[in-house]
This record gives sequence, C-alpha cells and structure tokens, in this order.
Amino acid sequence: YHVDWDPASAEKGGFSSFMEKEIHDQPDAVAQTLLGRSDINGKLTLDELRIDPALLKQVNKIIVLACGTAAYAGMVAKYAIENWCRIPTEVELAHEFRYRDPILDANTLVVSISQSGETMDTLMAVRYAREQGAKTISICNTNGSTIPRESDAVLYTHAGPEIAVASTKAFLAQITAAYLLGLYLAQLRGNIFSGQIKDVLADLNKIPAKIQKILDNAGPLRELARSMANEKSVLFLGRHVGYPVALEGALKLKEIAYIHAEGFAAGELKHGPIALIDDGQPVFVVVPSPRGRDSLHAKVVSNIQEVRARGARTLVIAEEGDEAVKAYAEYVFYVPETPTLLMPLLTTVPLQIFAAELAQAKGYDVDQPRNLAKSVTVE
Ligand code: AGP
Repeated sequence: YHVDWDPASAEKGGFSSFMEKEIHDQPDAVAQTLLGRSDINGKLTLDELRIDPALLKQVNKIIVLACGTAAYAGMVAKYAIENWCRIPTEVELAHEFRYRDPILDANTLVVSISQSGETMDTLMAVRYAREQGAKTISICNTNGSTIPRESDAVLYTHAGPEIAVASTKAFLAQITAAYLLGLYLAQLRGNIFSGQIKDVLADLNKIPAKIQKILDNAGPLRELARSMANEKSVLFLGRHVGYPVALEGALKLKEIAYIHAEGFAAGELKHGPIALIDDGQPVFVVVPSPRGRDSLHAKVVSNIQEVRARGARTLVIAEEGDEAVKAYAEYVFYVPETPTLLMPLLTTVPLQIFAAELAQAKGYDVDQPRNLAKSVTVE
C-alpha cells in the first residue's frame, strides 16, 4: 500500500490550492478576528489600540487608505463607520491619495488596511498622513510588519498567513476588523446605544457558521463556474455595501481566471454600462436583503430585470427567503440572513468560490497568477 505525500499538499490541508484552503479558512478567520475583543456585556475592549480615547473622540473625519482588495474592505468600512459613528469617512486608493495634496489635521483619523503590511503605496500614504499630523491606525494581518510599525496604533486581523496571491480570508477579516473599529468609535463617542452594539456583535458572532453553510452548499455554484470557463467577459453589479462586493468579485475573476470582468454600482447602469449588455452576457447581481428598511432591494431587483430584458444571463446572489429575485434570475445563490451592513461577509464568498472554480477548470495555478506578486513592495 502506497500513500503519495508531499509537504506542499499537506500545507494545503487536503485542498487543491492555497486559495481553496483559504476560502475554507474563512469561518475561522472571522471568528479569530472577533475573539477577545468584547466582553460578556457586549462592550468593545480594543485596549490594544493604545491611542488616547480623548483624541479619538475629537476625530471629525476619517480617511481609509488601501489598495486592491483591501480598498474594497475600506469601502465596506465607510458604510459601517458612517452609519454607526456619524463621522464623515472617505476611502481612497493609497497611491491616489498621496499625490493630490489632501487636507489633514490632528482631528483626522487615517485608517490603513493591508494584509501584508508591506504594500509600498499604502506605507507611503500612511507616512504622508503622519507627517501632516493625522492619527493613524492600521488594520493589518502581518504581525510586526512595516505599516503597523509606522502607525500610531494597530488592530490586527487574525486570518492567519495568507499564501495565495488572490486575497480571500484576509478580506473578510479586514471587513470584520473595520466593523469592530467602527463600533468601538461609536461606543467611545456615545453615538449608538450599548444594546445596539451588543446586537451587532451577536450578529457578527453568527457569521462564521453562516459562511460555513455557504461553503457546504457550493456544489451547484461550482458546476456553474465550470460551465463558464470559456466566457470572455463577466459583469458584476451591486448597490450600497454590495457595490464593493461586486468590485471584489470582478477583481478575483481578473486576477486568477484572466477573464475580463468589471464591477459596477447598479445605479450606474443607465449612465453607460447598460450599453454593454448583449445576448448571453453574464451578469452577477449582488442583491441586498429584502428586509432592509429602504427601497434598496426593489431598486436592485429592477436592475436585474433591466439587464435580463436586454438578453443578459442573470446570476444572482440573494438572501434566503428572497422569492422576488427568482422570476428574473437564471441562477440564484442564496446566502443566510444577516443585517444589510454585514452582508459582504457572506455575499463575497460565492464570488470567491466562483472565480477559484472557474480558474481551476481552465487549468490555471490559482495561487500564483501571472504577472502578480503577493505583496507589492514597489511604488
Ligand atoms: C487581492 O486579491 C490582490 N492580490 C491585491 O489587490 C491586494 O489586495 C493589494 O495589493 C493590497 O495588498 P495588501 O493588503 O497586502 O496591502
């Protein structure tokens, strides 16, 4: 009896690639990032931040800086932070920020997000912000790396080492850490009731099991991905926090499957992109919860109708129980229920799985896509 064994496949924990392993690590990445950061009364305890709370109370503007996937985590952070803290929050690509003479002062909080902590564009932007007197907090996955060392404080994501070039578990952990930071600032400034913080924390703690459910039910989605290996272009639409998810879904497909993919804010469709829709054009649509308070859901459902009427293949990511999307969807992937602001932690996962499966069907090395490096240490 002979068993083939090699150290590389052992490290991948039985998965065909690091990327697949890391996609499956996500329940843990989120759980570990939440662990030990609140007490039993539902109070955030981010003592590690070590910035004088008095200074944080004075913050009147937040700028989130990052590149690539980390910048999409930043976009999600903006919705959450503004919602909970009522502090104007901007997100900017770190390499754009530095060259436009941004206006910063001691009441500006700059939050950088980086998996590696070594991304040169992000590092230079953080240095610049510090020189201008802003307070800097880094959300980072790599202990002792340069960006946290050069920031006033750090909130580590505990996703564990991410090997695949395409970021997956670090992204979910970044979003989780950004929620914690947003809640912490809201708690400090008295913006929301402690009961509300407790409720959000309870919802966050339910996320890992929900991600696991998505992973366990991905069979038909993988089949869909394999059937689409010859596509030339895939579009992704989302609104609100679904917009950065659409951008991330498109980025994953570009990076590892080398397929032209674009993410759009669904509301932009009629301002141009709808001209791209032709017979058979695949369009993923990330649909917000129908339980949300405004007309967000109805708007996105009508966007699905619009592209479908023009011949698109509509591939829909929606919340369990959302029957309204069925009539207009060629394919629906349901994610478990969760409050709208937290939805990216769920809706991103099927798009990661789709990209990984499709790239693997094309025979590509998903861990080391062509032309890309894991961390970009040059400007
Ligand atoms: C994501 O899949 C990318 N490979 C890339 O966009 C990455 O997120 C970006 O380069 C930022 O890296 P960092 O998080 O290490 O700073």
